[in-house]
Amino acid sequence: MHILGIETSCDETAAAVVKDGREVLSNIVYSQIPLHQPYGGVVPEVASRAHVEKIGEVLESAMRGFFAAKPGGKIDAVAVTYGAGLSPALLVGLNAAKGLAKSLGVPLIAINHIEAHLHTPFLDNDEFRDPGEAMPALGLAVSGGHTNWIEMEEYGRYRIIGQTLDDAAGEAFDKAAKMLGLGYPGGPVMDKLARGYLEANGTEGLVPFPQGRPRDGVAALSGLDAGLCVSFSGLKTALLRYIAREGGAEKLQDAGEMPRIAASYQEAIVLSIADRTRNALRRRNFRAIILGGGVSLNSRVRETLKKVADEARLPLLTSKPKYCGDNGAMIAGLAYFRRNITGADAMNIDVAPSLEAGEETWQC
Ligand code: KG4
Ligand code: ZN
Repeated sequence: MHILGIETSCDETAAAVVKDGREVLSNIVYSQIPLHQPYGGVVPEVASRAHVEKIGEVLESAMRGFFAAKPGGKIDAVAVTYGAGLSPALLVGLNAAKGLAKSLGVPLIAINHIEAHLHTPFLDNDEFRDPGEAMPALGLAVSGGHTNWIEMEEYGRYRIIGQTLDDAAGEAFDKAAKMLGLGYPGGPVMDKLARGYLEANGTEGLVPFPQGRPRDGVAALSGLDAGLCVSFSGLKTALLRYIAREGGAEKLQDAGEMPRIAASYQEAIVLSIADRTRNALRRRNFRAIILGGGVSLNSRVRETLKKVADEARLPLLTSKPKYCGDNGAMIAGLAYFRRNITGADAMNIDVAPSLEAGEETWQC
C-alpha cells in the first residue's frame, strides 16, 4: 500500500510516499528556518504563507521520487497532519490533502503529529518489521512543541503519563539560545557547543542548573505524578540570572564560556528527562522505549537514554537523523498502521491545534 503523507504543522513543508508503513520511497522536506531566523522563532503568518508558496513544489517532488522508485505506481491513500500545530500552518496541508484525496478518489487519513513522531524509529528499519512487537512501549516524544511520556499499548491506544508543565524541551533549548545570542533554532547549536565541552572535560566544571522537578501540587493539577513531569521555567530563570550576574551574553561569549554554559544547561534538561524516564519504567513491564521528535537528535539525550534503557534491559528505538525533525514520511508511515481511522466524511475534518497524543477530535 502506498500512502502519500503531508506535514505542515510548523515550519517544515513536507511530503513523502511510504510503502506499507515503513519503506520510505520519497521524502521531501522544505525547511523554513531561514525565514524565521530574523524573528528568533516561528511566526505563524510567515509559516502559513511559506507553506502556501511551497506545498505544490514539495508535493510534485515527492511524487516524482515515488514514480522514480515505482514507475507506474499508484497512491492508495493521502495522510495529513491535522494537529497539533499552528492553525494557519495546519490548514495549508489539510486543504491540499483534501483536494488530492478527492481528486484521486482515495481515502484521507488524518494523523496526530505527536503520535507520528513515535513512529519514526520504524521507518527504514528492518529490525522491527511490526511495531506491535515493541508494545507495550514507553513512548517519549521530545520536540519543540511537546515533551510527553506515553504508555503505548498498541497503535491508537495511548495514555499520557507524564509531560512538561510549561515549555517543551526543544522550546527550552530555543529560548536559552536566544538569551545567549546563539540564534534560532537553539537545539542544534547548543548540542554542538555542549558536545565540544563534554568531550574535552566530561561533566567536570558544569554550572549546577536546576533539573526542573515540579512540585507535587502543580503536577496534580494536570492529574499527573510529579515524578513523571518536568518543568523548565526554573531552569530558564536560573540561566537568565546567571547571564546577568556574569555581565551579559556578550561578555560570556568573549570569555569563551558558551560551550560550558550550553553543556550545563543541556545537562539539566537531559538529566531531568532521564530521571522521569526511569520513574516511568518502574510503572510496568514495557518491551521497549520509543524515542521521537526533534530533540531526539541531541547526542547527549540519545547517549543518556541509551544508558537508561540498558539499565532496564530494554531496547531504545530511535530514528535515523533525517526522520527526527518534522517530515511527511512519519505521517504516511503511521497512517498505514492507523488506517482504521479513515472516515467516509473525512472531508469535514478540521485542524486541531492543541491535539494531545491519544486524542482524536473526530470519529469515523
Ligand atoms: O520535532 P520538531 O522538528 O518540531 C516540533 O514538532 O516541534 O522539533 C524541533 C525542535 C526545536 O526546538 C529544535 O531546537 C530541537 O527540536 N532540536 C534539538 C536538536 N535538533 C533539533 N534540540 C536539541 N538538540 C538537537 N540536536
Ligand atoms: Zn514535530
